[in-house]
Amino acid sequence: MHLKLYRSARSLTKKVYDVKKHGKTIGLVPTMGFLHEGHMSLIRRARKDTDCVIVSIFVNPVQFGPKEGFKKYPRNFKRDFSLCKKENADIVFAPKAEKIYPENYATYVNVEKITDTLCGASRPGHFRGVATVVTKLFNITMPDIAYFGQKDNQQAVVIKKMAEDLNMNVRIKVMPIVREKDGLAMSSRNVYLNLKERMQAQSIYKSLKLAKELFDNGERNSGRIINKMKKVIDKQSEAKIEYIKIVDIKDLKDVKNISSEALVATVVWIGKTRLIDNVVIKTRS
Ligand code: PAJ
Repeated sequence: MHLKLYRSARSLTKKVYDVKKHGKTIGLVPTMGFLHEGHMSLIRRARKDTDCVIVSIFVNPVQFGPKEGFKKYPRNFKRDFSLCKKENADIVFAPKAEKIYPENYATYVNVEKITDTLCGASRPGHFRGVATVVTKLFNITMPDIAYFGQKDNQQAVVIKKMAEDLNMNVRIKVMPIVREKDGLAMSSRNVYLNLKERMQAQSIYKSLKLAKELFDNGERNSGRIINKMKKVIDKQSEAKIEYIKIVDIKDLKDVKNISSEALVATVVWIGKTRLIDNVVIKTRS
């Protein structure tokens, strides 16, 4: 199948019914565009698993706070489209914001509790925006499998919970974090970094690796691990820690003493750029 662009939800849903009628499976990769290798890894996996791969490219205004740079978010549709072509995706869905949120739009999806912490605490309304748009994308494309990245770990946990709680007929697959050579997690936001900031951004993964090393050497106290991580990042003149937390991988609640597994999650501002990263620490079985 040739890569096809859909701008309208109704015509895409019509196409989806046709694909399903032929017994074919659908894989959905939701993105906000400005694609990089992290996104590509999801598209490749969808290509392997499913018959019809839909990549959505939509910078979702509802998940940005008033000062969170929705307008500034990087966009390059032409490049994104050709990357989707290269990976043999079948469909790109790139709707207009006015079509997704027409005037008088009034319905939102709110996942409770697990959105009170981590990024949910610092970005009120963010996950409400994510859950709402992902619900709409699921309804429009009716995927058998939808793909998300471990980089936005809380997002993946929220989507899984939403799908389970609302009996959505979709499997959620979470794929590993793709990193630059120096360890920085790939992100569309990395283009905001100047050279100095780009160098200093390395400290984020360095601190996460340190957490893993400390854990592997027997440290189980979260507070002590976090303090040592802070020291690595605080050395950088442009870095400001929003949070470093060690939490349960399922309910995302703080863990004081780690038993066999935990998520170390962090958000660090490098200059004016908000960068997110995490690692899972785990005893070897
Ligand atoms: P976006 O930031 O474009 O990311 C799209 C998907 O790619 C997300 O599932 C994200 O976790 C994944 N991803 C990003 N960087 C990655 C990396 N370095 N390695 C692996 N996966 C990575 O996340 C969103 O868009 C939006 O919130 C969205 C789900 C599309 C809803 O608007």
